[in-house]
Order: sequence, then C-alpha cells, then structure tokens
Amino acid sequence: MTTQAVTLTGLRAVYGTGARRVTALDGVTTSFASGTFTAVMGPSGSGKSTLLHCAAGLDRPVEGTVMIDGRHLDDLGEDDLTRLRRDRIGFVFQAFNLVSTLTAAQNVELPLRLAGRRPPARDVTAALDAVGLADRARHRPSELSGGEQQRVAVARALITRPTVVFADEPTGALDSAASRQILRLLRALVDDHRQTVVMVTHDPTAAAYADRVLLLADGRVVDELTGGITAAAVAARIAARETVPAENAGEPSC
Ligand SMILES: Nc1ncnc2c1ncn2[C@@H]1O[C@H](COP(=O)(O)OP(=O)(O)OP(=O)(O)O)[C@@H](O)[C@H]1O
Ligand SMILES: [Mg+2]
Repeated sequence: MTTQAVTLTGLRAVYGTGARRVTALDGVTTSFASGTFTAVMGPSGSGKSTLLHCAAGLDRPVEGTVMIDGRHLDDLGEDDLTRLRRDRIGFVFQAFNLVSTLTAAQNVELPLRLAGRRPPARDVTAALDAVGLADRARHRPSELSGGEQQRVAVARALITRPTVVFADEPTGALDSAASRQILRLLRALVDDHRQTVVMVTHDPTAAAYADRVLLLADGRVVDELTGGITAAAVAARIAARETVPAENAGEPSC
C-alpha cells in the first residue's frame, strides 16, 4: 500500500507587503509517497526553497495544509512541531547553515545532541565517511571548501535517520564525482531504508536519480515526470517549457 510521507494541499506562501509583496507559492497541491525520491526543479525564484521550507514545517504558509507522516502540522504546538522536525525530518539547506564554531564532526552530531542523545563516535565517523569526508572530522567550516561544507550538511541531515529528507540543491557546489556520491547516498536511503527524499536541483543528471520530477514555475506545479526519467528526458521537458512563453507571446509569424 502506498502511504504518503508528506501531503501538501493548496499551499500559498507570500513574502513582504505592499509593493514588495511576492507570492512564492501559489496553490501547490502534491504529495510525496513513502519510500520515493522526488526531484523538484524550476527556474530560479519559482518557489522551490519555499516549498521545501513549508513542507518541512520551517515556514508557515499563509494558506493550505501540510501533513507529515499522517499528522497535520497545524494541529501541533511548537514543542510537538520541534520534536517532529528533529526526529522525522532531515534538511539540507541551500546555504548549508553549518555552525561556524563547531568542527565537521560536531556539526554532524548536533541534531542528536539537541535531542539529548550522545552518538557513538563511530556513527559520526561513518556519516562523514559516507559523504567522503572521514578525514575532515576536526575541521571547522571556515577550513573546508564550499563542496566539503555542503557534504557535512548532508551528513548532518542523515545522522538521525529521518523519515523524510529534504535537500535543497545538495549537489550545487559539488564536482561530478562528489555529486554522484551524494546522489547514490540519497538513492540508497530510499532503496535500502524506505526513507523519502525530496531534492531540489537545477541539474537534469541529478534529477535522473529520482523516481519523479516536479517542475515549478511562478509558485505552481506546472509539470510532472514519472517513469523513464533520464537526464535527456528531463532536459527536453525543461527546454520545451522554456519555449512556450515565446510561442504564446503572439509574435507575428511570417
Ligand atoms: N525571505 C524572503 N523575503 C522576500 N522574498 C523572498 C524571500 N525568500 C524568497 N523570496 C522570494 O520568493 C520567491 C521564491 O523564492 P525561492 O527561494 O523559493 O525560489 P527558488 O525556486 O528556491 O530559487 P533558486 O533556484 O534561486 O534557489 C522569489 O521571488 C524570491 O525573491
Ligand atoms: Mg532555492
């Protein structure tokens, strides 16, 4: 039976007021089934990060509902929401958000520490090893490259074995070898542990690791691919959308 790890209904998100008001999400309804890998794509500013933040309970939409693991976030008080986020959700931020005063290993174990647990050192080492950084455990973020910081952020999101992993461009700063390593790791979470992955990416090659691709534009889901997802198929679908506005612009044809 398919169960939904995350269900979003009629999500609207707005930033700013007056002339600076931006509708970042404009009625998004979709769901992410347990044990599946979804790639979220779309132009810069189309609402991808906002979608992830709302789905993870980090931001509240102005309208609509979010359900995670069968629980409506609106029904939860701050403490329960914090617990749900801590125990069930892993989040890889687009801007990494590592704590600059902590080493890589301390950043990775932070979610467990915040939950009052003391992870065995070998678990932290294994998490860093899985992202190819076992030898950087004692480095602070300022002593790591951008791609290395990004990989620490991935290890930190996975250490609690969350039900749902939201990853906002987790390979954006990585070369192709490191990207492959992270994408295989995310794929294995789904295939081996039935965790659910929702990943924002601009890269059709990364999207090809997913079971499904959602395309956003102007805060709406405008297209969806399931089955037969290849980098070429994804790139073709995006290219097809990019040519639509020109055709619709009513330019005179000769
Ligand atoms: N904190 C904020 N204050 C005001 N406007 C915001 C804020 N965050 C996002 N926006 C606006 O909301 C819209 C959606 O932003 P979002 O960050 O979700 O886009 P995105 O698809 O993730 O883009 P990118 O690919 O560049 O990361 C954009 O127009 C953006 O300018
Ligand atoms: Mg973004």
